[in-house]
Amino acid sequence: MRLIPGPLLVIAISLVHPMTASGLQATQADGQRTVWDGVYTEEQAERGGVQYTESCAGCHAPDLRGSTTSPSLVGMSFTFLWGERTLGELFGKIQQLMPTDRPNSLPAQTYRNILAFILRANSYPPGDQGLEADGLDQIIISAKPEPRP
Ligand code: HEC
Repeated sequence: MRLIPGPLLVIAISLVHPMTASGLQATQADGQRTVWDGVYTEEQAERGGVQYTESCAGCHAPDLRGSTTSPSLVGMSFTFLWGERTLGELFGKIQQLMPTDRPNSLPAQTYRNILAFILRANSYPPGDQGLEADGLDQIIISAKPEPRP
């Protein structure tokens, strides 16, 4: 009997999750933002820079331009790879794969700070609110600021 709550919880979550996701999409369809809308704070990028130096710079270089074995995280190659995808996708990739020798070894908050640092390095503007766990899927990595309707 003691084992029941676990599986039940899993079922409950898997039932609720798709509904929550579609509910969010419906209500936030207009709330979609791009990386040009000031989606991270200067302070967050600053912290991310320190953490990038500790965990990523060894392979992707201090200036983020990569090396012969690790891709650049800035400039054309970055927007070519990530343009029109979401920050949620990029965050997921980084968390699941990086650092290659110990993936998912950093706190989620640290990965978000590093993401902010990468955005700053790509010259996207900072804003008043930092990157949060929620909403990353709603932020598009667009190469150019788009005219607002
Ligand atoms: C030990 C070397 C190493 C370290 C440390 C490392 N990376 Fe990487 N990274 C790579 C290599 C090699 C690739 C290309 C192969 C791949 O995607 O697995 C890569 C790919 C990537 C990509 C592109 C992924 C894709 O699929 O397009 C991103 C973004 C990235 N790294 C970010 C980071 C961040 C952020 C950190 C620090 C938390 C980090 N990396 C630490 C070696 C490293």
